[in-house]
Amino acid sequence: MQASARRLIARLHLIKPARFIYRAVGFFRYFALGYRYGRQIAAPDIAPKETPDVVSPLEAFARENREGPGIWKWEHYYDVYDRHLSRFRGKSIGILEIGVLGGGSLYMWRDYFGPDARIYGLDINPACKELEKDGFEIFVGDQGDPEFWKRLLREVPMIDVVIDDGGHRPHQQVVTLKSLLPHLRPGGVYICEDIHGPFQPFHSFVDGLTRSLSDISGPHERTPASSLHQQVASVHHYPILTVIEKTISCPPTFEAPRFGTNWRTEWYQDESRRRLFSRRRSG
Ligand SMILES: C[S@@+](CC[C@H](N)C(=O)[O-])C[C@H]1O[C@@H](n2cnc3c(N)ncnc32)[C@H](O)[C@@H]1O
Repeated sequence: MQASARRLIARLHLIKPARFIYRAVGFFRYFALGYRYGRQIAAPDIAPKETPDVVSPLEAFARENREGPGIWKWEHYYDVYDRHLSRFRGKSIGILEIGVLGGGSLYMWRDYFGPDARIYGLDINPACKELEKDGFEIFVGDQGDPEFWKRLLREVPMIDVVIDDGGHRPHQQVVTLKSLLPHLRPGGVYICEDIHGPFQPFHSFVDGLTRSLSDISGPHERTPASSLHQQVASVHHYPILTVIEKTISCPPTFEAPRFGTNWRTEWYQDESRRRLFSRRRSG
């Protein structure tokens, strides 16, 4: 931008609105570019395998489940679950699945996590209570009601794993995430299923949240970790499935110390950047 235009903007106290508009235009422009890129990207030269080399224990269990309580999951979920949840196997953890239906997935979780896991199910349908006979703890209520969560979570200990496979409406998914994220233990895993469509609102909600994770200054400054950093370690988007990992350790500040002595600073084109690089970090 021309210096005279910048001076005029400053004189009219328009710096903040101008910066906002500039960023908003950049945000939508790059969103559109990425969206179009994703729509038009060519298939890779080396085609991926159609199925993984090893069938996960969860998928094996589901496929063996020929009769009795039904399990209804998208096929590609099993591998994702296994990738994020295998470290909890054999441990005494708490897992809550929202959406019980036939109840077969509760038996699958028990087989996967082992007898020490406490398995909770939540459904709006009171008939699901019947599964308590097999040792599952079943709650009945509406996942889209924040007051329901407040009442319930007073009675339930902190949880390690949440699977949201309930009503699948975006407002239910948002209320459930906001209610349960603080109730997850450090290192816990939150999984939300069935986020269909490129403009699904829960997806946008999580994207908005993820943006603040990267609200960290350049490598010459220290940025204090926010409460979001203390809650959310990472967000993983898969086709129609999102996984959020809860923070297990978080430094009080984000910093990028340099180790070593040789640097190719000529790579920095302009003098001010070179000076910034050689500046010693103070205090
Ligand atoms: C897709 S099914 C669950 C499938 C099951 N988890 C499985 O893997 O086989 C969805 C379930 O969510 C329940 N549900 C629908 N709306 C709900 C709500 N607002 N709160 C809680 N559960 C709800 C339905 O009664 C139904 O049993």
